[in-house]
Parts: sequence; C-alpha cells; structure tokens
Amino acid sequence: MTLGSEQSLAAAVSEATAVLRDAGVPSPRVDAELLADHLLGVGLGRLRAMMLGDTPAPVGYAELVAERAQRIPLQHITGVAHFRYLELAVGPGVFIPRPETESVVQLVIDHVKGMAHPRIVDLGTGSGAIAGSIAHEVPGAEVHAVEYSPFAHAWAAKNLAPLGVKLVLGDLRNALPELNGTFDVVISNPPYIPAEAIPNEPEVALHDPPEALYGGGADGMELPTAAAASAARLLVPGGYFVMEHAEVQAGWIAGMMQRTGAWSEITTHLDLNGKERATSAVLAGPHLE
Ligand SMILES: C[S@@+](CC[C@H](N)C(=O)[O-])C[C@H]1O[C@@H](n2cnc3c(N)ncnc32)[C@H](O)[C@@H]1O
Repeated sequence: MTLGSEQSLAAAVSEATAVLRDAGVPSPRVDAELLADHLLGVGLGRLRAMMLGDTPAPVGYAELVAERAQRIPLQHITGVAHFRYLELAVGPGVFIPRPETESVVQLVIDHVKGMAHPRIVDLGTGSGAIAGSIAHEVPGAEVHAVEYSPFAHAWAAKNLAPLGVKLVLGDLRNALPELNGTFDVVISNPPYIPAEAIPNEPEVALHDPPEALYGGGADGMELPTAAAASAARLLVPGGYFVMEHAEVQAGWIAGMMQRTGAWSEITTHLDLNGKERATSAVLAGPHLE
C-alpha cells in the first residue's frame, strides 16, 4: 500500500480494502473502515459520512492495514473485542470472543429471570466475555469465573474487576471445591476442537492460544466432558448447565450427559445460523433456592 499524506480517506479505505482482499481477509471493507475508525475514533456512521468529503487519510493508517494484511486479528490491532454490551480488552494470549457465544449467554440470562441473586460460574473464562456480560446484564447476580492460562487470566482480571466478578486462576476440572453444590448456573465455552482439526484461518491458527482451542483427545472431548462433570459437582440440585460446542459434537455431548444419569432436560440449542452449537441440562433433583 502506497499511502501518501495527501490521499483522501475514501481513496485510502478503498485501497486498503483491495490490499486486505488480496491477503484473504474475509471482510476486507469492514476491516478497512474499522482500522480507519480506530485512528479517528468517530464511529462507523460518521466515518462513512466523512468519506463523502475530502477528509485526509489518518496518519498511521497504512501501517495498521499492513499488519491486518499479515492476518493479525483486527482485535489484536485495535486492542478491543465487542461482545454483547461490553468492550473487552484483548491481545496476544487470550481467545477472541465470538458472536455465537453471545447466544449461549442469552440462554443463561433467560434462565435466571426472576431469580433475585443467582450464583453463576463461567468455566474457562478467557477474556471474561461470558462472566462479564452476565455480571453486567443480571443485576443481583454473584458471578465467578475460572481460567487456567495465566496470560488469559491477566486479560480477564482487567476486564472483570470493574464488573465485580470473582475470578480465580485454576483448572476447571477441580476449581472452587469449597463452592461445590452452591451454584444455580454453570456456563462454559471450553476448548473443544479435535487435535487434528487445525483451523484454516491464520487469525485463529496462529493467534488464538492453542490451550483455548484444542479440547484434548482425538475428538476434542476431554475438556467438554470435564466441564460437564465439574458442573454436576458445582451446581445445586436443579441447577442449570449450558455449554458451547462444535456442531458435530451435539449428539455426542447429549449422549455423554445422558449416560452419566446426573442430568434431566438435556436440550440442544441452535445458533443464529441454525447450527447445533450449545447444550443445556438441569442437574437432577429439586432446585433449592
Ligand atoms: C474457547 S476459549 C473461551 C473463552 C471465553 N469463555 C469465550 O467464550 O470467549 C476456552 C478458554 O478455556 C481456557 N482453558 C483451557 N483449559 C482450561 C482448564 N483446564 N481450566 C480452565 N480454563 C481452561 C482457555 O485458556 C480459554 O481461555
């Protein structure tokens, strides 16, 4: 990209779009606009209006476009990931939250409606997207979060401290033993990708931390299975568990939960694209509120 200081914003964004398209970036125009807005800080609506006039391209734009053309995630360049109502600080060492997880959070928000002080824990919190959203959107909730990676934990600490979430560095397989049998809800988006299924997109394969992607074992099911076992240990009888997973894993997860005999109301949920991307269940026994 050969941006001169004289180039207009509109011309620079068009040229950046072409550069990003050539680099294989999936949404080149939007990314070109978001990078310009990262420097100008005016919002996309105003940015598009400014492109109709003769506003000059912002200083430093070509450098950001070059980084994105190397398939560095947009959110690592801007330092921000948008998730539901939150702007989360993200960067190297932490999984970038995905839009489909927003629907999984909604299942919990719907479930706890009418509960005065629901106790909720997020296993494998990463940036804190799930725990932070629930704390932000459910007044009166007591929200806990567990994260194993010290790098991700540092990002989560930054994002969750202002929201009052109780964050621990620990392994979802055995974390919070002192709180066994006390939660109304356990939610998790654990690592679940099979060992051999290395993602194609460089943003994921090279920049999401491996410990956030691979679930363990050839089928990626070790950590999802462990998350379900921990949910059974952490929930009150009648408590609600919801877990995100890959579409192809839905049947396996429902079967695995059925076989334990610990769960009732095992339900597979569709994401906005109609894919079976989450499973919920209720821990057998009466709900003690
Ligand atoms: C797919 S990411 C999801 C992050 C976040 N919950 C979200 O939805 O954006 C899985 C997270 O689980 C964490 N993790 C992996 N193994 C873990 C373990 N044994 N105990 C706790 N967290 C773990 C990873 O470091 C990563 O942050």
